[in-house]
Amino acid sequence: MKNIVLTGFMATGKSSVGKDLAAKLNISFVDSDEFIEKKLNKKIKDIFKENGEQYFRQQETEAIEELSNLTSCVISCGGGVVLNKYNIDLLRKNGIIVNLYASAQEIYKRIANNKDRPLLQNTSIDKIQELMNYRKKFYENCDISIKTDNLSIDQVTNLIISKIQN
Ligand code: S3P
Repeated sequence: MKNIVLTGFMATGKSSVGKDLAAKLNISFVDSDEFIEKKLNKKIKDIFKENGEQYFRQQETEAIEELSNLTSCVISCGGGVVLNKYNIDLLRKNGIIVNLYASAQEIYKRIANNKDRPLLQNTSIDKIQELMNYRKKFYENCDISIKTDNLSIDQVTNLIISKIQN
């Protein structure tokens, strides 16, 4: 079976949905950020702070080079994985690319008080919208797209399963 690759802006529910989806399909779940954190024994926010974003992006591509060789897995990707076409081309070899999205207002609500996302510190709905607008064309390079506003994890998972089966 092909991998199910979850992409999308930060806080669109990729990890929570990914775990639920993997459990429902009885397949393994992997997460590119967790993979990097384990490899470097460092939290993402500390990698950004101490090594910079460019170093993080290199680590991300190395993670994708490994994870894209898997099969029959749910792969949850950090929100910036799509920015490098090379990453998405690799993931597409063995995978169906699913994009989860939500409104800037909804993202803002979900990340309030969260200190773990370096790109969303001291942010605002307008700044989130601006970053989303810039990234829109990258997220659109997918096979299935799902709006997650007002949907539970269970509902998003079931939608993915039904769309994949069609
Ligand atoms: C990022 C998203 C984060 C993490 C890093 C950068 C991005 O993952 O990889 O903070 O550039 O969108 P989540 O999408 O899981 O928050």
